[in-house]
Amino acid sequence: MCGIVAYVGHRQAYQVIINGLKRLEYRGYDSAGIALLNGGLNVYKKKGKVADLEASLKNEGHLNSHIGIGHTRWATHGEPNDTNAHPHYSANKNMAIIHNGIIENYASLKQDLISKGHTFQSETDSEVFIHLIEHIKDYEKCSLDEAVRLAMTQVVGAYAIVVISKEDSTQLVAARKGSPLVVGVGEGEYFLASDATPIVEYTKKVVYLNDHEVVVIRGGELHIRTVEDLPITPYIQTLDMELTQIEKGGYKHFMLKEIFEQPKSLRDSMRGRINADKNHLVLGGLIEYQQRLMNAQRIVIVGCGTSWHAGLVAEYLFEEFARIPVEVEYASEFRYRNPVINENDIVIAISQSGETADTLAAIELAKSKGAIIFGVCNVVGSSIPRATHSGAYIHAGPEIGVASTKAFTGQVTVLAMMALIIGRAKGTITESKFQEMITELSSIPDKVEHILKTTDEQVRYIAEEFKDAKNFLYLGRGYNFPVALEGALKLKEISYIHAEGYPAAEMKHGPIALIDEQMPVVFIAPKDSSYEKIVSNIQEIKARKGRIIAVVTEGDTEISRLSEFTINVPQIHEAFSPILTVVPLQLLSYHVAVSLGKDVDQPRNLAKAVTVE
Ligand code: M6R
Repeated sequence: MCGIVAYVGHRQAYQVIINGLKRLEYRGYDSAGIALLNGGLNVYKKKGKVADLEASLKNEGHLNSHIGIGHTRWATHGEPNDTNAHPHYSANKNMAIIHNGIIENYASLKQDLISKGHTFQSETDSEVFIHLIEHIKDYEKCSLDEAVRLAMTQVVGAYAIVVISKEDSTQLVAARKGSPLVVGVGEGEYFLASDATPIVEYTKKVVYLNDHEVVVIRGGELHIRTVEDLPITPYIQTLDMELTQIEKGGYKHFMLKEIFEQPKSLRDSMRGRINADKNHLVLGGLIEYQQRLMNAQRIVIVGCGTSWHAGLVAEYLFEEFARIPVEVEYASEFRYRNPVINENDIVIAISQSGETADTLAAIELAKSKGAIIFGVCNVVGSSIPRATHSGAYIHAGPEIGVASTKAFTGQVTVLAMMALIIGRAKGTITESKFQEMITELSSIPDKVEHILKTTDEQVRYIAEEFKDAKNFLYLGRGYNFPVALEGALKLKEISYIHAEGYPAAEMKHGPIALIDEQMPVVFIAPKDSSYEKIVSNIQEIKARKGRIIAVVTEGDTEISRLSEFTINVPQIHEAFSPILTVVPLQLLSYHVAVSLGKDVDQPRNLAKAVTVE
């Protein structure tokens, strides 16, 4: 939550920062603000989106500056308004800060600072941080970077901060603990940002900061030290990201672009890993830990939201192919229980962003109990891949729409590959089954392409028909039960229509009471081992006059007779069917939200990366 960006160099900082904030807006859009050293240290901030800030500054003639910081906010402490917007000044207005994260002990720090004469303008925890830095700097008579370092020893919580100061127009001081921060290294210029998207159009050279590190950019030089004041040699990496990947490319919304990118993202997730002709499947990150995985007593999967749904599909995959018992846990629950975990367990952490605070905390807990942690993430260089022992990226490319789409199909694909590799190594699947399954997996991108071509118009029509419904039910069985949950989540988060996903057989235990002629019920009912059972469930809904929309396998006639609408997907082994059946549900939520005029890419109250618990 919250996006931060800062710049120092030969360009106009204002433009670099505004462009960067637009790229980071998926992280929060309650308010936006910028501070520039342009004569004095001036802060401009506004409730609302970056475009509102930009509009408010249209007639501002003094934005000339080569150094500045900017922030886009997802509100935690204090309502979204101009005052609580970042950047925040120090008391003497000689410094300003941007902050992503949460300062847990801000209340006691604030009390202490108030007793020392500080007054605060905002209700935020972030303002306390800059006052603390200011107090230390004045009291210790030290440099800004030293004051930041000392403040870090007093602050409890998560943060990525950047501080700008009047005292030096070439200087930015930044630090991180628990929230992401990337340094972009250009020719005589530096960028700081929550992720690489604001940086990639200027330079591909980046340094991903680690926790407890302080960055000082001064006089055109970059220095990194630990909070213990030890020097660090910056490890400069080259970004594997193109500008086109983070632009809409002609699509109306990022979400639609990302849905339509799935044939490519799925090919990318398998590239160099599967070769069905040679009966070859390898995941580099698995090699070192393959024996541990084969001998695992149990796999525990942790994640949140859509990633948790991918974990539920993986439960079926690992139990079927690798015969290892699996438990799937919400990371937020797992971290606060006293879970029974030991060194024989494998924990798989799933996360698109690689920054989800609860998932990170679950990893740390499991690690402390001796488990091996394997990450399945999308954002390269993010915190979770760095906190795990090993892992596999899904290579879906940047996902910017708040509603996760291509990440889900990529996650299931990578988890399916893992299950097959372990199953083969353990001998829990035969060689011929293995060959059949990797051939099936390889066929998926073409099948997804076919679904997108053949169903988009029809789904748009269905969306128009049902857009005024107040509730939706999504029902599936087996591998497609998690897809029912995912379909319901997609609809809720971007259209604000209440939706619930259920295992179809659970209907009879309560939810069937909701069925009447107003209730759309979406069945995920491909031809699989529970087909006959789900046909009976459809009959039960039809008998009670529910309105049935069914996702079925091409050629199905039985369910077509029972349903108001059927959406066809190609035949595939049932283990991989979630990767196909979820696609029309992504389109359904998209088209419903668009026809209701909702903000698809930035739905209310949400942020893409949930970096606070
Ligand atoms: O980045 P992560 O995969 O860890 O994020 C987990 C959830 O916050 C995320 O899946 C969320 O539920 C999405 N908005 C769903 O579309």
